Amino acid sequence: MSRTIDRMPEAPNGASRRVARVVRGRPASDGAGVRLTRVIGSPELPDLDPFLMLDEFRSDDAQDYLAGFPDHPHRGFETVTYMLAGRMRHGDNKGNSGLLLPGGAQWMTAGRGIVHSEMPEQEDGLMWGFQLWVNLPGRDKMAAPRYQDIEPAAIPEVDLPGGAHARVVAGSLANASGPAKAVATEPLYLDITLPDGAAADIPVPASHAAFAYVYDGAARIGPKGAAHRLGRGELAVLGVGAHVEISADKGGGRLILVAGKPLGEPVAKYGPFVMNTYDEIRQAVVDFQAGRF
Ligand code: CO
Repeated sequence: MSRTIDRMPEAPNGASRRVARVVRGRPASDGAGVRLTRVIGSPELPDLDPFLMLDEFRSDDAQDYLAGFPDHPHRGFETVTYMLAGRMRHGDNKGNSGLLLPGGAQWMTAGRGIVHSEMPEQEDGLMWGFQLWVNLPGRDKMAAPRYQDIEPAAIPEVDLPGGAHARVVAGSLANASGPAKAVATEPLYLDITLPDGAAADIPVPASHAAFAYVYDGAARIGPKGAAHRLGRGELAVLGVGAHVEISADKGGGRLILVAGKPLGEPVAKYGPFVMNTYDEIRQAVVDFQAGRF
């Protein structure tokens, strides 16, 4: 699905978001030994309410990803996987199973508890994508778990004025609405390609915390005169405002632009459990050990 528009249906007004901080991801290992880059959830950027973690996995060496993420639990938040290349099989203890394909996504709401696995469905070739952890408000932390498996073709694609191309995983852009639904933090999740010399002005809800992560090439982010140039592997935490200006020089760039409504609640985090209090964390451990997920 693709459409071209002449102009933004709602011209952005209000402040243009500036880059508040630039953070570079650091190498990490998770699951059964998958090598990845942790961008949010590292000592440099422990979280960005409502986002708890952002990992990029990208390798064409199977030894970096073959071990995968065997059975493990989650409670109290959502995990969002977005694939650029490669195939990942997921399965859970509620009987759900599916295959993540390049350009596809999975929005998993762990709620009160799920045990699942995420394993590569390939033994060689490039595996590239992201996992984002999105917090849930206290009122939803014990809700029933839910999967939204999103096929690549279900993600609307938009050609913007100025030459940029966007895939809308969640939220809305230029009358296109992303398939991830009923998420408490009303997220915006865009995958944006900026060809040589392209520029775009993207509306971002003013109430939301936002970041841009450049995963290929380079991009300029922020208002003219105050823009920062980010290279591959750099994340910009965006300041307040109602829109963000992005552009690319020769060579172009690709980035994800993600925003969500901050929860402003206490965060008690222990591995795959994220609750409001440590009493609730202790209960999560007890429930998991008793097989109540
Ligand atoms: Co998981």
